[in-house]
Amino acid sequence: MGQTEVLMKRIRKAVFPVAGLGTRFLPATKAIPKEMLTVVDRPVIQHVVDEARAAGIEHLIFVTGRNKSVIEDHFDHAYELERTLGERAKTKELEELRRDLPAAGQASFTRQQAPLGLGHAVWCAREIVGDEPFAVLLPDMLHHGREPCLKGMIDAFAAEPSNIIAVSEVPMSETHQYGILGVGAVGKGGLMPVTSMVEKPPQGTAPSNLMVSGRYILEPGVFSILETQPRGAGGEIQLTDAMVSLSNTRPFNAFRFDGRIYDTGTKIGFLSANVAYALERSDLGPMLRNELKAVVASSQTRK
Ligand code: G1P
Repeated sequence: MGQTEVLMKRIRKAVFPVAGLGTRFLPATKAIPKEMLTVVDRPVIQHVVDEARAAGIEHLIFVTGRNKSVIEDHFDHAYELERTLGERAKTKELEELRRDLPAAGQASFTRQQAPLGLGHAVWCAREIVGDEPFAVLLPDMLHHGREPCLKGMIDAFAAEPSNIIAVSEVPMSETHQYGILGVGAVGKGGLMPVTSMVEKPPQGTAPSNLMVSGRYILEPGVFSILETQPRGAGGEIQLTDAMVSLSNTRPFNAFRFDGRIYDTGTKIGFLSANVAYALERSDLGPMLRNELKAVVASSQTRK
């Protein structure tokens, strides 16, 4: 198939790399995958899957690792639980559980057998993705805005078929922790052409303060590059490095996400996400607002 034809296809599949060890969250993540930690009452991974489904994604591809089988269970029926909820007439809870389930055959699980980096994790999904453009969503990064981030990207892709990377501004002092993009002027569909990409640039060398925020639309051509991609930053096979190679021949654009991003892989990001997601819920928001004031006041008097 020609490269132009590949880009004319719809984005149907999304890859979720969920093999990470979660060492930044020990001891909480000793026996529980970090993706199963909850933001309010939904696991982090469920929030990210919600985003993908709201963007029209039909097939979920999880790249898992050892000790992650509970993620597979989460996206499957729980017969005993469902039967008990049914017997107790807990209709709302039952409906919610069923609504969150992927349809039969629309979730795939493959294992990254060694922790070789994000690029390697994405490469592990190549057989399931096949020859079509696809999305990647990094589960640590919760994108909280009026419109789901991936939906905005897929709409932009329809207007301007290309590889698309979501970005968000970070303070210059934090650029060394992320992938960073240099971009040109805003063009079609609100996209900005990517002029440079670098993974975790040393302090003072970043081309901008636009962080790669963990949402991508990529052409399948990235897989053949990842196959031979040497290790990069941190000794890992980096997705960013493979995208740099692909961008030599294929169009890449940046999509600026209009919302707040919570890096739930950090403690402060995780705590803030819980507060932000709870505050916007009608059953919790007003009460939590008052509780927070009381908690802050009492912690100040104890100092
Ligand atoms: C990965 C990507 C990086 C991106 C970041 C967002 O890094 O390689 O480009 O900015 O996710 O969280 P990691 O956090 O896996 O080190």
